[in-house]
Amino acid sequence: MPDPVVVVTRRWPAEVEDELCSRFPDVRLNADDRPLGPEGLRRALCEADAVLPTVSDQLPAELFSGGTRTRFLGNFGVGFNHIDVAAAARAGIVVTNTPGVLTEATADLAMTLLLMVARRTGEGERELRGGGWGGWRPTHLVGAEVSGKTLGIIGMGRIGAALARRGHCGFQMPVVYHDSHDQAERPDIPWARKLDTVEEVLEIADFVSLHVPGGGPNTHLMDAERLARMKPTAYLVNTARGDVVDTLALVEALTAGTIAGAGLDVYEGEPDIPEDLRRLDNAVLLPHLGSATRETRIAMGRLVLDNLQAFVDGREPPCRVA
Ligand code: DGY
Repeated sequence: MPDPVVVVTRRWPAEVEDELCSRFPDVRLNADDRPLGPEGLRRALCEADAVLPTVSDQLPAELFSGGTRTRFLGNFGVGFNHIDVAAAARAGIVVTNTPGVLTEATADLAMTLLLMVARRTGEGERELRGGGWGGWRPTHLVGAEVSGKTLGIIGMGRIGAALARRGHCGFQMPVVYHDSHDQAERPDIPWARKLDTVEEVLEIADFVSLHVPGGGPNTHLMDAERLARMKPTAYLVNTARGDVVDTLALVEALTAGTIAGAGLDVYEGEPDIPEDLRRLDNAVLLPHLGSATRETRIAMGRLVLDNLQAFVDGREPPCRVA
């Protein structure tokens, strides 16, 4: 494909924007970094040969109807449930993502949330910054010990396994997991015990961390019934996708104390977070920071570039999802 028109929907780290612009002469960057919205995205699909969106761009089926100039969608991110990939494929568009390069950063953030919610660090920081700290006392902000507690993982893909290693090696945590796709034994994590159902994990884990893709059958995987299967002393961590958890049911469980707490990085309908959730002290809430390290964001950009370059050269892109 000679000199494709390329639209990038959000700002990228300068290094990778520069690399993109040096490889392709007609790149349209989003200078003010505002979301393009449905109209802007539809325009991009009509005007560009390649569009490079990310998780904050919703690309439902209707955006692909009526024909598109775009033949390549290179998602900046591993999760692609914001793109109707079947509709994109029907419109003749190749879709790629960025697996692998954000595994360690995201597992680090899941561990961060687990520690933060167990050790009540959000509450402590709010209290101190608000001028409310009255000094050390034996009963002040007492949380839960992490070392040696059981870590339950739902979805043992790359990120789930990276978190399992952190828990097992760093915190001596027994690890149990459920994975609906993983039929084989996992020689890379021989100390992790595979269980047949999500419920079995929920019933024995002290910390439950979600690592399944969003959308489809995983929508509200953690509903009221499953939340009720968790121990009242257990914590839920979600760095996967917001729709994997039924937010209303979670708010009810946290309010009633039927689970001890939650550490969340992703939300249904983000960036709008329900007031009821924001008010809860036993919820640690981060703004979708899973992959937010300099090194990882540069690696993600480079992988989008590799995919685009392969497509333009007529080769199979390395991370094609549709
Ligand atoms: C992804 O890549 O899917 C993340 O959610 C963005 O960091």
